[in-house]
Amino acid sequence: MFIVELLKAIGDRKSIRAFKSNKIPKKALLDILRIASRAPSGLNCQPWEFFIVRGKVLEQLKRACLSAHRSGEPKTPDIQVYRMKGIVPKFDGIFNQRRVALGKQIFSILGISKEDKEGQAKWVENMVRFYDAPAALIIAVDRSLRDEWPLLDIGLVSENILLAAQEYGFGTCIMRAIVDYPLLVRKIVGIPESKRIIVGIAIGYADTTHPINSLRTERENVQKIVTFVE
Ligand SMILES: Cc1cc2nc3c(=O)[nH]c(=O)nc-3n(C[C@H](O)[C@H](O)[C@H](O)COP(=O)(O)O)c2cc1C
Repeated sequence: MFIVELLKAIGDRKSIRAFKSNKIPKKALLDILRIASRAPSGLNCQPWEFFIVRGKVLEQLKRACLSAHRSGEPKTPDIQVYRMKGIVPKFDGIFNQRRVALGKQIFSILGISKEDKEGQAKWVENMVRFYDAPAALIIAVDRSLRDEWPLLDIGLVSENILLAAQEYGFGTCIMRAIVDYPLLVRKIVGIPESKRIIVGIAIGYADTTHPINSLRTERENVQKIVTFVE
């Protein structure tokens, strides 16, 4: 791959939130994970473990998450997450502004107004069903690696997965919503207690006719976030 293609791939990647129902071949998923796991990791410990959930088990997981969401069950992800009451109290200023901007962009594309609480709730339910992607990839880390450090490695392998999947013609959305109810995920997918569930990735063929997939999110001007020191 020429460098210009790599830069284009990085620049083009974006989250996909509507999928076709077509299955993804197992071989393609394995190829993506094989190449993605060339990611660097501290001490080359390669802390990532992948669970690919498809078919009936995925349906069961989606149903269980939706039912937990509808009954207001508390979300108890295995890793600390922004904006969870009592966990990380400080999420305001520019960070909150960006979050709000994202929400506005999404609801504007979908034609859901500020007052349309039902429309918003429906969209959130769609997210809780992992946007009906035909596969959900879950990344876990052994609990013996209990510090924050392996999370950096998971970030690196995750972006590799998103980019490799794109090269294979698949759309992806990295998602906290897949791992918000780890007790359910553990039980239904069969992930042992000895593994920390870190993040999920919805993956499938993008439904290019769905307006949400036209979303192109904003980025801060790089000049504002860089300090040269010489
Ligand atoms: C750790 C992490 C968790 C995320 N969880 C969700 C999620 O639960 N639902 C969702 O729709 N998008 C989720 N996203 C996607 C972000 O909203 C998205 O990456 C961001 O808005 C930038 O847009 P882009 O990916 O299209 O460039 C998550 C992204 C990351 C990195």
